[in-house]
Amino acid sequence: MGECGASRHPVGVVDLSTSYLGLKLAHPLVPGACPLSSELDSVLRLEDAGAPAIVMHSLFEEQITADPLRTERSPTDPVGYLEHLNRVKESVHIPVIASLNGTTDDGWTSFASLVEQAGADALELNLYHLSTNLWTSGATLEAYTLDTVRAVRSLVSIPVAVKIFPYFSSIPSLARQFEEIGVNGLVLFNRSYQPDINLETLEVKPDQRLSNSTELLSRLYWIAMLSGRVDMSLAVTGGVHTGEDALKAILAGADVAQMVSALLQNGPGHLKVVRQEMEQWLDAHGHSSLAEIRGSMSLEKREDGRAFTRAGFLELLQRGAGPGS
Ligand SMILES: Cc1cc2nc3c(=O)[nH]c(=O)nc-3n(C[C@H](O)[C@H](O)[C@H](O)COP(=O)(O)O)c2cc1C
Repeated sequence: MGECGASRHPVGVVDLSTSYLGLKLAHPLVPGACPLSSELDSVLRLEDAGAPAIVMHSLFEEQITADPLRTERSPTDPVGYLEHLNRVKESVHIPVIASLNGTTDDGWTSFASLVEQAGADALELNLYHLSTNLWTSGATLEAYTLDTVRAVRSLVSIPVAVKIFPYFSSIPSLARQFEEIGVNGLVLFNRSYQPDINLETLEVKPDQRLSNSTELLSRLYWIAMLSGRVDMSLAVTGGVHTGEDALKAILAGADVAQMVSALLQNGPGHLKVVRQEMEQWLDAHGHSSLAEIRGSMSLEKREDGRAFTRAGFLELLQRGAGPGS
């Protein structure tokens, strides 16, 4: 972190509280969907490290439709997922957000209400779908996506957040349509699976890369575009590793900064480090709460909002600079 200056409030007194999907959270650093939630032990370690809520790993539809005769249970099959969710809910005192990834209408809806019954405080829909069909247009896919989300939204009464990829032609329009069908939160952005090619074996190399802070930038841009313009909670997922990253997400307008790669790399205790870095920065800059800065760098709040748009890009080019120069 940068220079902190003299402390005005003892660390810990700075109010980092936030509201996400109607849930009151002590701070915005929420462990995102990943295998850390598939073991009760690591969920407890995250809670001990101060996680204010947790997003469970996704239940994938392929697992919902997998061999129904299998008798052993795992946190990734449907019955095992529900049992695990139930056990997690009974063992922690923080909100638990379940995550679903479907591919068909039935897949999405059949499990959404079961997850609600199992005690989830909210539901994150992981819209992980990349079309490979030559004949399906973007508009068709978008309409299908909205229909699916609408069906789930009308089925459950818990808050619903939608996690999307950045690959839509008009993210603001899509966000508005999600808002219109009652979606409570938008999670930007999922990371796409990008396998490599091994030149020696000519095999497809699985993508096991974790993120770094540079991935935050595309999220900052779109959160800053949407903050204050749609009536939904906004969460960043992707590239939040440090207190600086999380602060930037909040300044752009996020209510929550989800973390995965940083926690997988450094362990649950890293949450405390990032939280402290945020408190120190806020304190050193004369703020007593996170609410004072939330969204202050968004397109809506900044008179120089041009910096975020095409006009800002043109100004940069006219000054003889450009991205990466
Ligand atoms: C090992 C691993 C497993 C993940 N599993 C899920 C998942 O089950 N559901 C989901 O929505 N995202 C999943 N993600 C994506 C993360 O939730 C997160 O959106 C992404 O890693 C970007 O955040 P980060 O930069 O903090 O890692 C996974 C990521 C990793 C690295």
